[in-house]
Amino acid sequence: MEFQKLVCDIEKEFFNEIFASIQYKIDSRNFSGDKKMKKELLKHSNEEYKHAMLLCELLHHFPSFINYKRKSLNYQDNDEEIIKRNLNDEIDAINTYTLLLDKFPKESGVYKTIESILKDEIEHKNDFVEFLKSGLHKK
Ligand SMILES: [Fe+2]
Ligand SMILES: [Fe+2]
Repeated sequence: MEFQKLVCDIEKEFFNEIFASIQYKIDSRNFSGDKKMKKELLKHSNEEYKHAMLLCELLHHFPSFINYKRKSLNYQDNDEEIIKRNLNDEIDAINTYTLLLDKFPKESGVYKTIESILKDEIEHKNDFVEFLKSGLHKK
């Protein structure tokens, strides 16, 4: 059923956002290089938490079909691993939200919420792309 799948996808993203918020906090603590990126990782953590709360607001209006496979947190990664893993996760989030966006009419509240989250995820991805380009992860 299409509706059930949509709600499941949003629920899955809700958990991914919570997970991302916690993981970014761990990563910010573990990141030993560039101070600006250390701060940026913490900022991402706060923004992922806000995304989770936005999705929570949306999910409040739907029945729950929770079906989530828990990921495990990474505590031991070095700076380069932190940046590359987060870059991949941001790309996954962008792909998921882009697909979800397509399912809702442009004038709907759900569309606007997902669109604003997507904008943040693109910025998050760009932070890592720029950082990798700068070569600062190797210092
Ligand atoms: Fe997010
Ligand atoms: Fe993000």
